[in-house]
Amino acid sequence: MTSRLAFVLAIACLGIGVAVWHPPSTAVASDGVAPVVGTLMTTVAAADDESGYAYVGSKKCKKCHIAQHKSWAVTQMGQAFDTLKPGQAKESKEKFNLDVSKDYTQDAKCLKCHTVGFGKAGGYVIPNPDDKKSVRRAKNLESVGCESCHGPGSEYVKVFKEIMDTKRKYKVEELRAVGLREVNEAVCKTCHNPDSPTINEGDAFDYEKRKAEGTHEHRPLEQREE
Ligand code: HEC
Ligand code: HEC
Ligand code: HEC
Ligand code: HEC
Repeated sequence: MTSRLAFVLAIACLGIGVAVWHPPSTAVASDGVAPVVGTLMTTVAAADDESGYAYVGSKKCKKCHIAQHKSWAVTQMGQAFDTLKPGQAKESKEKFNLDVSKDYTQDAKCLKCHTVGFGKAGGYVIPNPDDKKSVRRAKNLESVGCESCHGPGSEYVKVFKEIMDTKRKYKVEELRAVGLREVNEAVCKTCHNPDSPTINEGDAFDYEKRKAEGTHEHRPLEQREE
């Protein structure tokens, strides 16, 4: 398949996906109209620069990566959504001229970095409180999740399942080809940059140090071969 055709197909699939992932009911949520429109537009851009895979949420990964999930959940990034709630992170908010009493959990400007895949295929959508399914779905995409660093999982999760079921060896390249990202400094800097109200132009980001304190517990990989 030529890459051009693959790209067109990815766009077509995303088009269908968006219709499925965002039922009309989300469009009537108090604040939901604009984000749904935004999703459609940014989805095309995401297909361009992220090969068009969809986000599935951190719970999907938990099944097979319990240790990483458990240790991630207690990091600040694992709780980054709560920071947007009124009264939370009072000191930081005061220091950076944010309104401590304001609810930022519906603010698109913040959700971009404090949720998984906001505005992208399968990513976070502001839930309609009357629609339990949309609330559950959103919960699973809150904070900086597994896929914020490892990339949208819709396809590589299927390959990992097959690798687990057959107990075969794998090379990481086959996962990269279906959306598993190499985690590096550039990935962190998609959020750790001065677009954040708490980061100033010129603030340093020490990748090795931050990686050690900010991600999760690491386990040896047994089925991977070089
Ligand atoms: C999707 C956006 C996003 C990505 C990608 C991301 N971060 Fe973060 N990070 C955040 C946010 C938001 C916070 C603040 C969490 C909070 O306290 O609410 C944070 C906080 C942290 C903290 C805790 C900061 C502190 O002051 O204690 C560390 C450490 C960190 N990140 C490291 C990393 C590293 C290393 C990477 C890349 C491997 C990375 N982050 C990728 C958004 C991101
Ligand atoms: C470009 C990505 C980005 C955007 C947009 C963003 N944040 Fe963050 N936010 C971060 C990162 C990264 C950190 C962690 C900074 C660090 O520790 O170096 C952070 C940290 C914070 C903290 C400090 C948390 C703590 O534990 O002390 C608060 C509060 C915060 N963000 C609130 C907001 C609010 C409110 C908005 C919207 C008005 C917002 N952020 C928009 C990336 C972002
Ligand atoms: C802030 C970025 C970040 C987040 C969030 C994150 N990871 Fe990772 N993950 C990493 C880094 C960095 C590595 C080490 C890879 C390297 O150094 O090349 C890693 C490695 C892994 C590995 C390889 C084995 C190991 O234990 O090191 C697995 C499996 C994994 N992550 C799963 C997850 C799961 C599941 C989640 C969500 C619960 C998650 N990750 C969330 C950054 C992240
Ligand atoms: C059905 C089980 C299953 C699910 C679900 C799953 N994984 Fe994995 N994953 C595996 C297996 C098996 C390996 C290889 C483990 C080994 O070699 O010991 C693996 C390896 C990894 C690695 C290391 C890749 C490498 O070689 O560097 C990362 C990163 C990872 N998974 C992230 C995720 C993320 C993120 C999710 C959720 C979006 C996820 N996985 C969901 C089974 C799964």
